[in-house]
Amino acid sequence: MRGIQIKEYVKSPDELRVTDLPDPIPTDDQYLIAIHASATNFFDLLQIAGKYQHQPPLPWIAGSEFAGTVLAVPRGARAPRFQVGDRVLGASQGGYATKIAAREEVLRPVPAGWSFAEAAGLFVTAPTSYGALVTRAGVKPGDYVLVHAAAGGVGLAAVQIAKAFGATVIATAGTGRKLDVARAFGADHVIDYADAAWPDKVKKLTPQGRGVDIVFDPVGLIDRSTKCIRWNGRLLVIGFAAGAIEKVAMNKVLLKNISIVGLHWGAYSINEPEMIPVVWEGLFKLIDEGKLRGTVFTDQEFVGLESVPAALKSLGSRGTWGKVVVKVPQQEGLSKI
Ligand SMILES: NC(=O)c1ccc[n+]([C@@H]2O[C@H](COP(=O)([O-])OP(=O)(O)OC[C@H]3O[C@@H](n4cnc5c(N)ncnc54)[C@H](OP(=O)(O)O)[C@@H]3O)[C@@H](O)[C@H]2O)c1
Repeated sequence: MRGIQIKEYVKSPDELRVTDLPDPIPTDDQYLIAIHASATNFFDLLQIAGKYQHQPPLPWIAGSEFAGTVLAVPRGARAPRFQVGDRVLGASQGGYATKIAAREEVLRPVPAGWSFAEAAGLFVTAPTSYGALVTRAGVKPGDYVLVHAAAGGVGLAAVQIAKAFGATVIATAGTGRKLDVARAFGADHVIDYADAAWPDKVKKLTPQGRGVDIVFDPVGLIDRSTKCIRWNGRLLVIGFAAGAIEKVAMNKVLLKNISIVGLHWGAYSINEPEMIPVVWEGLFKLIDEGKLRGTVFTDQEFVGLESVPAALKSLGSRGTWGKVVVKVPQQEGLSKI
């Protein structure tokens, strides 16, 4: 197969090289999959630089999220969920390659009518946003939901999920293009959060200026968002894309009777695995109803594993929206099957 192997950490994605590598050898509980699209995540950038919380022993293959077709089912499985030829999406170490071995628990079927590119970006972002808004914050019809960085990967999923549950969505982002994207995916109101007055603007959009019911924050804007949240509101801590880990004065939490609620989707497999199928069932219901669609960044196309460095650099430059996905051409994936 072909893939991007990390033998030593790199300072820039430009140093990544695609090489011929031995095919992965699946263990008894793993499928072998031909990858047709790989999605990028910010943690891929951290991992190739040796700065991520999970660093496998060198050498290892970069990348995580992918979509492709099953080449072989697990040898030890009596009733495998997927069969040879099935279209699957998932995430496992080694997504920047033409083949990957992965266990059933990290695979889901590609939704009917979805391309591999659309499906490749679903595994991490969609359940994060659903788990936060639905499981943790209990979003319901009539709620006002503020989604920060609404054109980002988790942001665009959050906009769609909040809308699907009957909420009014106020979206923030940092450029006009990103605000247009948020609106195109269903946001009712959009605000450029480069304007320091954004909390006031948010409040004015809510009935009687009462503030929003839920804040979805992948950026690090919890403290400022306490200015535009209502009594009993919930602030969802999703991430720190701006870089700093915030400190919040707790008197604000008391005075406004609000909750600050964390969500660590990756840790559900250890701490609350029974919730994972519940979240995916909910997501597939929204997909079947046409309420959740893929969010592939289409302003620029990335084709072939050789374009992974460019895709990662675009992601890191904050110039993209949705999921930045690299198409892995079939002949590349099938050349050595
Ligand atoms: N809690 C969990 O389980 C979980 C799961 C997945 C992801 N996350 C976290 O959620 C965050 C967002 O993930 P994502 O996949 O949506 O990322 P993304 O697609 O790269 O989007 C991040 C957005 O953050 C905004 N941003 C604000 N300040 C920024 C800065 N200084 N540098 C870069 N971006 C900045 C950008 O939007 P504007 O340009 O519009 O400001 C950007 O579009 C990350 O921190 C990620 O680690 C958490």
